[in-house]
Amino acid sequence: MKIAVIFGGMSSERDVSIASGAQIFKALKYKNHDVIAVDTASGILDKKAELSFLDAKVKELPPDSDKKALMKGLGSLIRSGGLSDFDICFLALHGGAGEDGTIQGYLDIEGIPYTGSTHMPCCYAMDKHVAKTLFRYHNVPTPDWLMAPVSAEEAVKRLGLPLVVKPNREGSTVGLSIVKSIDEFDKAVKTASYHDREVLIEKFIPGRELTIGVLDDIPLGVGEIIPKMSEIFDYKCKYQKGGADEIFPADLTAEQTQYVMDTAVKAHKALKMEDYSRVDFRMAPDGSLWCLEVNALPGMTSSSLLPQSAGVMKISFPDLCEKICMLAVERRKKG
Ligand SMILES: Nc1ncnc2c1ncn2[C@@H]1O[C@H](COP(=O)(O)OP(=O)(O)O)[C@@H](O)[C@H]1O
Ligand SMILES: [Mg+2]
Repeated sequence: MKIAVIFGGMSSERDVSIASGAQIFKALKYKNHDVIAVDTASGILDKKAELSFLDAKVKELPPDSDKKALMKGLGSLIRSGGLSDFDICFLALHGGAGEDGTIQGYLDIEGIPYTGSTHMPCCYAMDKHVAKTLFRYHNVPTPDWLMAPVSAEEAVKRLGLPLVVKPNREGSTVGLSIVKSIDEFDKAVKTASYHDREVLIEKFIPGRELTIGVLDDIPLGVGEIIPKMSEIFDYKCKYQKGGADEIFPADLTAEQTQYVMDTAVKAHKALKMEDYSRVDFRMAPDGSLWCLEVNALPGMTSSSLLPQSAGVMKISFPDLCEKICMLAVERRKKG
């Protein structure tokens, strides 16, 4: 196949996207595909830029807003017809316009095929309030929540303490706070609102953190994440070496594993996801399972969670990357 790996973007997850893009590029080359790398900011990489791209490492903190690149390179490449003879564009984008359906809609208008879900499911998954509403409708358990504005007293009365305050449409735990006493509430809402004008306030679920990939409507292996650097799975734990222990397969009973798998597929379908996604859960000490979110374009380095989840099912990283391309091509043939 002729594949363009598109990476970069302008979200706080740009650096993560570069790391995913580099590894997807290598994996697809390894599978003998004809691959080019496209930075959304600068377009097709020349040989020199390609070499430094392949060495990319995720930095410790999310990139500053002034370093965020624009979509200029991708736009002019599309307008010049530079992507028209590719079988598929592999979207190695995370967060922001790359994952929220914006780029997907744009590529659809231009008639350019790409991997992963189309724009509507991406919108549903990115908007946590919309996703949770769909989960409830489809009987996927999700923690109780409220949308700001709401007073600290009302939030605590309805959700208890601690509670979680997060931007409605972000990722990588950016702008998220665990509020342990009522006087921390207003500051947490302010912090979240710096990242999104919509702020979601959620009941805190103690216990374990689980994640699982879904590929072609089939559940992959369940993993458990044990954060090491913070009490929650934050940016540092997510992307720094040793930030968290990631245990695949998770140490669960056969029934618990099956329940997580079934619920993951239910959550994936509730949001009408296509081809693949990664579903995140909390499991409370009483064994109850709570879906936090579905990620439309989860991290895709070979050590990222979705590839590890696929690994449990003996699907290698290069096979996973190739399968994602094939699913996208086949789905479009079916129309
Ligand atoms: N309701 C909750 N109860 C307990 N921990 C939570 C809750 N919501 C979020 N967290 C913690 O914060 C992390 C990020 O939250 P999440 O809702 O997945 O947002 P993001 O889109 O930033 O990944 C989770 O992986 C979990 O560790
Ligand atoms: Mg998450």
